[in-house]
Amino acid sequence: MTRKILVTSALPYANGAIHLGHLVEYIQTDIWTRFQKMRGHECWYVCADDTHGTPIMLRAEKEGITPEQLIARVHAEHSRDFAGFHVAFDNYHTTHSDETRHYSEDIYGKLKAAGLIEVRSIEQFYDPVKAMFLPDRFIKGECPKCGARDQYGDACESCGAAYAPTELKNPYSAVSGAKPELRSSDHYFFKLSDPRCQEFLRRATRAVCENQPEAINKLQEWLGEPGENRLTDWDISRDAPYFGFEIPGAPGKFFYVWLDAPIGYMGSFKNLCAKKGLDFDAFWGKGSTAELYHFIGKDILYFHALFWPAELEHAGYRIPTSVFAHGFLTVDGAKMSKSRGTFITAESYLAQGLNPEWLRYYFAAKLNGTMEDIDLNLDDFVSRVNSDLVGKYINIASRAAGFIVKRFDGKLDARHLIEIFRAELPGLIEAGEDIAAHYEARDYARALRRVMALADQINQYVDKNQPWQLAKQEGQDARLHEVCSLLINAFRILTIYLKPVLPRLAHRAEEFLNVAPLHWADAVHLLPPARLINPYEHLMQRIDPKQVEALVAANRESLAPAVSSAPTPASAQPSPQRKAQHQKATEDKTQGQAEPAAQHISIDDFAKVDLRVARIAEAKHVEGADKLIQLTLDLGEGENITRNVFAGIKSAYDPAQLVGRLTVMVANLAPRKMKFGMSEGMVLAASDADGKSPGIYLLSPDSGAQPGMRVK
Ligand code: 2FM
Ligand code: ZN
Repeated sequence: MTRKILVTSALPYANGAIHLGHLVEYIQTDIWTRFQKMRGHECWYVCADDTHGTPIMLRAEKEGITPEQLIARVHAEHSRDFAGFHVAFDNYHTTHSDETRHYSEDIYGKLKAAGLIEVRSIEQFYDPVKAMFLPDRFIKGECPKCGARDQYGDACESCGAAYAPTELKNPYSAVSGAKPELRSSDHYFFKLSDPRCQEFLRRATRAVCENQPEAINKLQEWLGEPGENRLTDWDISRDAPYFGFEIPGAPGKFFYVWLDAPIGYMGSFKNLCAKKGLDFDAFWGKGSTAELYHFIGKDILYFHALFWPAELEHAGYRIPTSVFAHGFLTVDGAKMSKSRGTFITAESYLAQGLNPEWLRYYFAAKLNGTMEDIDLNLDDFVSRVNSDLVGKYINIASRAAGFIVKRFDGKLDARHLIEIFRAELPGLIEAGEDIAAHYEARDYARALRRVMALADQINQYVDKNQPWQLAKQEGQDARLHEVCSLLINAFRILTIYLKPVLPRLAHRAEEFLNVAPLHWADAVHLLPPARLINPYEHLMQRIDPKQVEALVAANRESLAPAVSSAPTPASAQPSPQRKAQHQKATEDKTQGQAEPAAQHISIDDFAKVDLRVARIAEAKHVEGADKLIQLTLDLGEGENITRNVFAGIKSAYDPAQLVGRLTVMVANLAPRKMKFGMSEGMVLAASDADGKSPGIYLLSPDSGAQPGMRVK
């Protein structure tokens, strides 16, 4: 029976490059959809850029371009990277589209009509300089638990604590540096706590996660026991300025990015329908018999297993058949790290000349359909690709093809060999359905183990029959022809089993075998007798470990200056997935490495900072503050004034030591009201990335400098 299947991968944000962490998911999904197509099913794979939100708006502003220009550029970059790794979407669209706007408005309107939208006033941090409300990731300050400085508004990277932005000490806006104010504003909420949603989710979403016990446990935790009401309503609006879709009937209010992102799945499919003449309702209408699957990272399970089905259900659409969550990628057992060079972009991998199918194979060999994290061990990557892929599989073709071409004019044995094949290589054809079942269950690791066991069996057959010896012996031509023909057929069958993972290699193998594109069902028969094959050209090189070293070096060098503090969007409300999302978005900075340099700025940007030599006229402890020293700074006669500055240097200096010494201050920092009084500037001090060890070092000018001199 032909199945109708619609498959999606999570929509990547349009403000950053695709890296190997992303590719785990796209490769996982691509393998699955290619497999379904090879099985003869009607399977569509759609995705899109996730283009809305504050970070994209601010990034465009920073680059001096419009958000539309930014997302167009990123769309081209993402499309290039995906194509480079043979990720074959049937449609790669954008959430900034008419289709997505249409379904966002439609779903919102239906939820509203069902009484599931509520307007409430909430208090949020507001940046008075930038005149905008700040998402959590754009508020920084001192961790309320451990005091580490410059922590984001949702969680501390130093001690791991999670908190609300209002709990940060000395909060400041990461956009303008201003002290944020609490302001209230009306927000729109989707009432997930409504009894209808609770009842529906309890009834329906277990099935959505049916195949993944870890996901079911999570759902259970989020939903609680029947009668409990653990679900909180979901804030789906953001205030202007915002890059997104304005909510109908609510001027100045926009759909929050997470409201239109999953709807982007529908938008992209609708766009495909127009191109291919497909029936949208057959896939999304209530009662649709098509299958709908979302491949996602485990950090966004909450959105896909709760909000999304609840939204769809109450807006009159079908719900997903299943959500398939995967774990995160680690490299050599640790989080990807820019300073170590393991935060590897798709672009750099390809630019360094590494074969994308090596990575596809390696990821597939690790993916088992669970939510466990997967590790890219770089040494193991080299040895597994070289020994399995090249050493076992490719080798079969290279050992047999030469004889067929040289000794038999490129023609296979003229007899029907199926009986001999089954006798000499038992189980090779029969394994097909088992391997298919592993692909279907997304246990690619198991599928590939099975394929490699078959490759071992075939190589043992080669060693037993030694075609190179047969070639030297008188009267063994027929046997040589038979052995090599069987081997070419065995290679062809393995190619079918590997084709979802290695589409490009399979294509080249099809050319060599002189056959039409292979389908799964082709594995039950052999090539026709006397088939002419083409001369063999080497199908895949081994990885030279030096290439991997160069890749790591390139990412260390090329990315270090590009480390950006630009936050990745995250939900602005507390929810269980927040912390994981935060962790996903940040690379490891906790390895005691030097802090990478920040992004380039122009000389004009630098000139805006008025740095002055200042003399510390007075220094004293601040009662009730365990980190601060209050400084009175003298900026010289020209300035004719002193500045009051609170500096977080108490752990390193005794006030008495400081009086009289020269230092450097930022003289034009907007005054900040602190708990202990106004701070009218900032002194410059060096410290480790985490601000703790080994200490804090106040800057001093060389002797001869005078208070008030400009530093530039
Ligand atoms: O977490 C993310 O990267 C989001 N851009 C994923 C969106 S998935 C879907 F809902 F669109
Ligand atoms: Zn902390």
